[in-house]
Amino acid sequence: MYKKFGNTDLKTSPIVFGCMGSAGAFGNQEEKDSIEALQAAFDVGINFFDTAEGYGNGYSEQLLAKALGTRRKEIIISSKVSVENMKKKDILEACDRSLKNLQTDYLDMYLLHWPVTNVSIEERVEALTELKASGKIRNYGVSNFGPQNLDEVLAITDICTNQIGYHLFHRAVEFEVLPKCIEHDIPVMCYSSLMQGLLAGKYKSLADFPANRARTTLFDSRTHSQSRHGGHGAEKEGQEALDRIWEITNNSDYSMEELAVGWLKAQKGVAGIIVGTRNAVQSRDLLKLLDVKLDPALITELGKATEKVKTALGANIDMWDHRSK
Ligand SMILES: NC(=O)c1ccc[n+]([C@@H]2O[C@H](COP(=O)([O-])OP(=O)(O)OC[C@H]3O[C@@H](n4cnc5c(N)ncnc54)[C@H](OP(=O)(O)O)[C@@H]3O)[C@@H](O)[C@H]2O)c1
Repeated sequence: MYKKFGNTDLKTSPIVFGCMGSAGAFGNQEEKDSIEALQAAFDVGINFFDTAEGYGNGYSEQLLAKALGTRRKEIIISSKVSVENMKKKDILEACDRSLKNLQTDYLDMYLLHWPVTNVSIEERVEALTELKASGKIRNYGVSNFGPQNLDEVLAITDICTNQIGYHLFHRAVEFEVLPKCIEHDIPVMCYSSLMQGLLAGKYKSLADFPANRARTTLFDSRTHSQSRHGGHGAEKEGQEALDRIWEITNNSDYSMEELAVGWLKAQKGVAGIIVGTRNAVQSRDLLKLLDVKLDPALITELGKATEKVKTALGANIDMWDHRSK
């Protein structure tokens, strides 16, 4: 089940635990539930944990240390530096803060969280190279890098991953970014693999999806005040796709989460599928996601179900449409 992650010497589980929701990103969250969620994920076999200084301003990193600090040698941690800390000095300081939050002296992966900044890529890479040379980070990579951003970074260095939003309702990466990552041998980590819960088999209608999550380009900005993209979304195509995914789920032996993750597993170039849970019960469900492998016919059906959404939303990989190139 554990596989070598790209060109690193890390052996990772196919499912990565995403620590954003457990730090309260989706609303009120009890610390006890978050700790139990992390520990249950480890207990089912997940060894890869994705966090960021931006998740709860370091709180998510602290939670990970609290829950699994004694397991440090058995787990792989990726953390990310926030876009407002992209000057060399700020990246170095941010890394030290993350190490302190995580109560560790190394990060397995350290990623530039978002690309858009007025700090040159050379300066950002210089900081990452220095951190790697000092042993504070073992590998570095990027997140949310579009085609232009990737060209810029690849001109000066190799990267261990590009962490991007990729799931059945957001397939923009298939146009340019995924082919480019495959061409350059960059393993992709996909996030929001369950579309923040829409693909967890709880919602029959897009209209029922909580307003604080209905902020992506799928939703119409005119009727979703918390979204910042300003576009008209693709809700008609999205609802048709959701209806079809429900049909496929009801006619199969799989849960919707298994179908969503099984479909991602079948996509070339994907090396880690990040899923977030909020409690131990949800984490125990991750066990079936570790092993799921779908028949090619089901993979094709799921692809067809979301083809119109893919076409309607186009090639912009930024799910919120305001930060990537
Ligand atoms: N690099 C980046 O810019 C970036 C951006 C976003 C996310 N990420 C990473 O990706 C991770 C995952 O993405 P995400 O948190 O956006 O969303 P996600 O994994 O697509 O969805 C998480 C939500 O799915 C629901 N869920 C999960 N397992 C479930 C189960 N067994 N039963 C019922 N519901 C279940 C929960 O909803 P409820 O809350 O309703 O219980 C949970 O909060 C984050 O934690 C973070 O590590 C990275």
